[in-house]
Amino acid sequence: MIRLSEVRLDERAEDLVLGVLRSGQLAQGPLVAQFEKEFAQIAGVSEAIAVSNGTVSLESAVRAMGIGPGDEVIIPAFTFIATLNAVLQAGATVRFADISLDTFTIDAAHVVSLVNDRTKAVMPVHLYGQMADMAPLAQLAETSNIGIIEDSAQAHGAEYDGRPAGSWGVGSFSFYATKNIATGEGGMVTTNDLDLADYLRLYRNQGMRARYQYEMQGSNLRMTDLQAAIGISQLAHLSSWNEQRRENARVLSEGLQGITGLVTPVERTGGRHVFHQYTVRVTPEAKVSRQGLSDELGKKEIQSGIYYPKTVYDYECFRSDSRVKIEAVPNSVLAAEQVLSLPTNQWLTQSELEQIVEAIRGILD
Ligand SMILES: Cc1ncc(COP(=O)(O)O)c(C=O)c1O
Repeated sequence: MIRLSEVRLDERAEDLVLGVLRSGQLAQGPLVAQFEKEFAQIAGVSEAIAVSNGTVSLESAVRAMGIGPGDEVIIPAFTFIATLNAVLQAGATVRFADISLDTFTIDAAHVVSLVNDRTKAVMPVHLYGQMADMAPLAQLAETSNIGIIEDSAQAHGAEYDGRPAGSWGVGSFSFYATKNIATGEGGMVTTNDLDLADYLRLYRNQGMRARYQYEMQGSNLRMTDLQAAIGISQLAHLSSWNEQRRENARVLSEGLQGITGLVTPVERTGGRHVFHQYTVRVTPEAKVSRQGLSDELGKKEIQSGIYYPKTVYDYECFRSDSRVKIEAVPNSVLAAEQVLSLPTNQWLTQSELEQIVEAIRGILD
């Protein structure tokens, strides 16, 4: 099977994990501190706060910005459910902006039209590894005095105008098992704001500054040294793995040009897309439907995935929540109907990439 994602751990990972096992220090310890320091460099910020997953990382970032009940946060309607859950868990109200169909990221002009007195932040999602259009959002944040929380769960090492994901606002990353850096479960908040970092360090550890010295209500969001050991071993490869993903995407796009009803992904000018997913659109002009294409690929042992089959609010549990404010988002609806992700991970061989191209041409040409 040619897989969408695959985790391979090197000897250093094994050595570091073994070191943790033998140290007896399994919970948050020196390796978490090291992972944070190295990750901060990749995100181009001074502070990185490791947490237990990318969902609580987003939620705690919202809380750290002082956002809660009555406040509004604008998110894209086309994203993973965690983006929405995180804002709701923090108690705030959600507004949905549409996406641009070419990049699958939030439409900055639509965001501008949703801003009002209650708006406290915008949460662009760097979907599939491509950064959202950050320049107009940064300008909006400044003129309207609202915060930016970047959902960078899929975008470790991505850039916009040479500036990394996680450095444009408060960044939030995930290290879930399929991500470009994967520790099983894990998350990271990135920021240059020392007060915010201090809040997050206390909040993740029961609000405790020194042993049994509680300064605020908190929670337990700590990462373990076992996870950090795996993360550290992978960070050393992030740049070359991302380059390989980019090269794989280039090969796929070259091979898939000119097929009726198949739209290949676009990289934003001046951006560095890290292809967490290589996502095409299968339009009604295609010879077979999206599901048909996916089924045929499956028969040829090629995995494909639909991320995501619906807009994020389109479930009864959200539609019935008064804090979920639904807008017209036609591009998001279309994307949910048409997207299909194909394997592009760093371990694919040239021959596997050729098999993917040949299989798709065989089905759609
Ligand atoms: C866009 C997006 N946001 C948030 C998350 C949440 O991360 P986690 O699964 O680590 O909680 C994920 C990943 O699963 C994601 O893809």
